[in-house]
Amino acid sequence: MHEIDIKLVEMTLDVMKYAIERISAPRNKIGKPQSESKLKELVGETITKEGIGGEYAFNLWKKYLMKAVVPIDHPRHLAFVPASPTRASVMFDLVTSASSIHGAYWMEGAGGIFCENEAMKWIVSLTGLPEGAFGVFTSGGTAANLSAMVTAREYWRKNKAFKNEKGLIITSIGAHSSIKSMAKVIDVDVLFVGSEEKLQGEELQEVIDGLSEDQMKRLFAVVGTGGTTNAGIIDDLKGIANICEKENLWFHVDAAYGGGALAADSVRHLFDGIEKADSITIDPHKWMFSPYDCGAVIYKEPELAKEAHSQKGSYLDIFKDEGAQGFNPAEYQIQLTRRVRGLPLWFSLATHGTDRYKHAVERGIELAQTAGKLISESSYLELIRAPSLSCVLFRRIGWNPEDYTNWTYENHKKGFALVTPTKWGSGDTFETVSRFCFISPHTTESDISAILESME
Ligand SMILES: Cc1ncc(COP(=O)(O)O)c(C=O)c1O
Repeated sequence: MHEIDIKLVEMTLDVMKYAIERISAPRNKIGKPQSESKLKELVGETITKEGIGGEYAFNLWKKYLMKAVVPIDHPRHLAFVPASPTRASVMFDLVTSASSIHGAYWMEGAGGIFCENEAMKWIVSLTGLPEGAFGVFTSGGTAANLSAMVTAREYWRKNKAFKNEKGLIITSIGAHSSIKSMAKVIDVDVLFVGSEEKLQGEELQEVIDGLSEDQMKRLFAVVGTGGTTNAGIIDDLKGIANICEKENLWFHVDAAYGGGALAADSVRHLFDGIEKADSITIDPHKWMFSPYDCGAVIYKEPELAKEAHSQKGSYLDIFKDEGAQGFNPAEYQIQLTRRVRGLPLWFSLATHGTDRYKHAVERGIELAQTAGKLISESSYLELIRAPSLSCVLFRRIGWNPEDYTNWTYENHKKGFALVTPTKWGSGDTFETVSRFCFISPHTTESDISAILESME
């Protein structure tokens, strides 16, 4: 298994050929899922005592299994938050794996962590956070949000008066589902306020003023969103920051999706106030064109994260010894052993320069505006609201929820496009609508027109 022989050489060539073909293809086909039993019927038993052999297993992958996945970077994949890793970053993902790097501690991963930190410096510079702010790459936005919330909670509990209190955080109804899920993990309550629209500072102040004494005692953080997943809406970050400062609350900004737009001059002003955050989540695997998985959490005062996350064990002491001194990513988020998942981003940034990133993000924003215009001009479609960042919500006049679902499946089955429905809430009513989220700079106006025409 670990020997170097002719079989290994052949397998290496096969894998490289596949990777080159996949990376250099202009558009890979949109695959469709099959049931587990159907896939089992197609490939048979793959895990056996003797092994089925690399060549045979790889052929099963190419012939059947690969066809049951949707390439996240297809230009007509506009569902959820798609991704569009640069070719340079994908190639360096191969290098990252081949280099076998432990990314937890500087002692083992210095070269890789150095590169991650160079990329991180650029991301931090986009936020405008003060000198001393820094961050680490995580497995995604969920892990980044969790790491930030744990840091905030531990900081709050430094005050003995709160040692035995169950914490409370406030966020808006438009916040991502991971906020609620991660609050569950750390057993704190969440108060959802406002609506799916932008949370305003005054709205937040009113809610805080109306809290009971018990709630007020337990409140330790507010989570603002820098680009809601559903509609690309950015909360009034400046207003929220000022209130957090006044009320002595931790201010976290979840910009997992929207954070890439900090690089875009046309919308940067919408994020004003983010520079006052105590912590920020930004996912390079969303709008910074990194391969999965790559999130990031940034702290105004990284030492607070270190106090919350640094793991202790006799076998770990050496990593923290003077002789091993350097930045240890494991100490600033929830994970110990970690891949240097910021390395592909570093290589791509170094290759292309930050201006290309700015332009690629602007392209997503431009595509959303184009889609908005096409929808406004159509006789059978209506915009729900003006496009925000790269999200567009729209209705097909006369359709019910089932029509949207059937249309999604039909396009997916044909390998034509993946565009999924969502719900938009207004007051107490929720309407099923369609949604575009643009990330790939390779999506064209013709792609958008073709998708819209398929709704006629
Ligand atoms: C605003 C926001 N926060 C958090 C997340 C969760 O990120 P991940 O899926 O990388 O864990 C998402 C995912 O879409 C998101 O849009």
